[in-house]
Amino acid sequence: MTTAMGDAGATLAIRGRLLWFDADPADAGEAASVRFVEDGLVVIEKGMIREVGEAPAMVRRLSPSIPVVDHRPYLVMPGFIDPHLHLPQTQVIASYGTELMEWLQKYTFPEESRYGDREVADIATRFLLDTLAANGTTTASVYCTSHPASVAAFFSEAERRNLRMVAGKVMMDRNAPEALLDTPESGYEQSKALIAEWHGRGRLEYAITPRFAPTSTEAQLQAAGALATEYPDLPIQTHLSENHAEIAYVAEAFPWSKDYTEVYERYGLVRRRALFGHCLHLMERERAALSAGGATAVFCPTSNLFLGSGLFDRAAMRAAGIAVGLATDIGGGTSYSMLTTAAEAYKVLALKGQRLPAFEAFHMLTAGNAAAMGLEDRIGRIAPGLEADLVVLDTGATEPLRRRVERVDTLAEELFALMILGDERTIVATYATGLRIHDRSAQFRRSLPARQESVPLQSPRQPGGADQ
Ligand code: GUN
Ligand code: ZN
Repeated sequence: MTTAMGDAGATLAIRGRLLWFDADPADAGEAASVRFVEDGLVVIEKGMIREVGEAPAMVRRLSPSIPVVDHRPYLVMPGFIDPHLHLPQTQVIASYGTELMEWLQKYTFPEESRYGDREVADIATRFLLDTLAANGTTTASVYCTSHPASVAAFFSEAERRNLRMVAGKVMMDRNAPEALLDTPESGYEQSKALIAEWHGRGRLEYAITPRFAPTSTEAQLQAAGALATEYPDLPIQTHLSENHAEIAYVAEAFPWSKDYTEVYERYGLVRRRALFGHCLHLMERERAALSAGGATAVFCPTSNLFLGSGLFDRAAMRAAGIAVGLATDIGGGTSYSMLTTAAEAYKVLALKGQRLPAFEAFHMLTAGNAAAMGLEDRIGRIAPGLEADLVVLDTGATEPLRRRVERVDTLAEELFALMILGDERTIVATYATGLRIHDRSAQFRRSLPARQESVPLQSPRQPGGADQ
């Protein structure tokens, strides 16, 4: 067994229980979608998947010079994809007691105001990318702040790690502290400059990112729409219909609109590769509009539960023909783990009388989220020609999970136990372009800082004790 990291261009092979999805099991049925090779081999060359198949036969004819990393008996899947999270909210996560609009004003905007400082953004980026890798997530769609420096911080580190990442500068020109506001003109110009500098560099893509209608004037939404027209292939990300107070504000601020979705439609933002976070309280007409535009609704279950926002209606989205993504929404969301996110999605849907079978859940975390982001030709499956981003999973990682898995009869049952009970501890290794970016056994961190990275608050005064 060889466990060396290797060079970006190195050829290597990974052996394990391979699992990926060639189609959505909810549409195509299991036989046409689930691909499982109990003893499989993935050959990787120059960061891309070259060949996939049964290991015993392939190993026999594999050149002896190609190192084989033997991950048996672990599962090997495409790296997980998180289509909605916020870089500047790693220190907002788990802030107590509020719903969306108050949570933004009380916790989120003050924290985001720090991100004009490049070093703050650099530190957060390193933590975020390390933590995503430790959770098996290899691609994400990321909101930075309104400060261009936060985008440069994120993209430069993602490029250094050769990751496939999507990110954008938040455009917001009202209803927030001065330090966070841009203008229709500066939001447009800064976005354009960032697109020129970063989009298409390595595996990076720029997402046009108007935060949401309440923090943009009509002039700014028009500017975002102008960018969307100028760059028709770029991803777009924003929030839609998360919370009743938010929806009421949009109705008041855009009195001409029939509903929330029409605000984005008017400015040409409802289209393919547009990711709409939440979509909890949509009318029938709004679903039809998202469907007609080829846009994606992104389900963020831990956030929706934490902020008390509402219960996502997956069945209604599917009936309307809308692609659905599944995401953490850090830091309204409360877990970096896509496994935990799938578990909470299952529970939300149970409250709606709906079900999320394990195959459908793992399809969402991989090929489904890739398709939702328009990246299905690059990532999300274990297939020749795709990028070699992989996660290795141990369904015996913890005693509660191992005991449950002892009793399962099928792969679907094993996967269901993994998503309900699994967390970071099940992630044995994570690969991006064939390079190992996380290794459980080595507790490997690519950029473990030598110095303390966040300044602690003064310790709370102990009753009767002296100040420390
Ligand atoms: N709507 C606008 N901004 C945000 C945000 O940062 N988080 C969530 N959950 N919803 C939003
Ligand atoms: Zn969000």
